[in-house]
Amino acid sequence: MKDKKTEETSNKPVPRHVAIIMDGNGRWAKKRLLPRNAGHVQGSRVAEQICEDAFNLGIEYLTIYAFSTENWARPKDEVDALMKLLRKYMKDSIQRSSKNNMRVHVIGDISALDEDLIESIKKLEEVSASNTGLKFQVAINYGGRDEIVRAARAFAEDVAAGKRKPEELSEALFYSYFDTAGIPYPDLMIRTSGELRTSNFLPWQLAYTEFYFTDVLWPDFNKKELQKAIDYYGSRDRRFGGV
Ligand code: IPE
Ligand code: IPE
Ligand code: MG
Repeated sequence: MKDKKTEETSNKPVPRHVAIIMDGNGRWAKKRLLPRNAGHVQGSRVAEQICEDAFNLGIEYLTIYAFSTENWARPKDEVDALMKLLRKYMKDSIQRSSKNNMRVHVIGDISALDEDLIESIKKLEEVSASNTGLKFQVAINYGGRDEIVRAARAFAEDVAAGKRKPEELSEALFYSYFDTAGIPYPDLMIRTSGELRTSNFLPWQLAYTEFYFTDVLWPDFNKKELQKAIDYYGSRDRRFGGV
């Protein structure tokens, strides 16, 4: 008899890198007549669980969108609550990453965050750096356009400092200036809650990614839903411009 893991990963290709736009926390809470923050709390629990599930399903890289450069436009009390949750998430992850062997890396411009949050992010990245399990990227104050501008600026600075020449720039070299440098592009992007857009998430990296949209709200997302997305991925014919 096959074991469960083999069963789940044997038949179809499993995406190596999955990126997720975790959307619908607010609507989940509203449906239950709860404050929006209750949706974020449940959403962060689901994010924890999905890390485990993703790894057990054979996914190597998981990147989740936790807070966008546009999310600062939300009411201050919601932004504060999200930051508080991220703080707790980073602290808890320090313990969790040593238990489940995951390597955590935060992408986005973290310089705009509070000092103590930056500290716990750095600590988490440091303690988990040599872990060999799931490679987990969390996008915080992340905007794809912002990432491209920061990469362009860093390259321009290297040119100005005489370290690089403009004609050296290739897609591969430019990518080495990104927050996700060294990480393969996502194979599958999942967005929950029924919105059909990417909201400034990984525009460069998603250029050839397969997209899976589901009406399920993020706090209701689970391993079964993840499996559905993987099955969908397995049914796609990725041509990359060929025939
Ligand atoms: C996603 O849920 C979480 C974040 C953007 C931080 P939302 O808060 O966007 O939930 P909806 O879209 O309002 O339902
Ligand atoms: C995208 O969700 C950002 C995150 C999931 C962190 P939003 O809810 O902010 O996106 P829009 O506003 O619907 O495009
Ligand atoms: Mg939303």
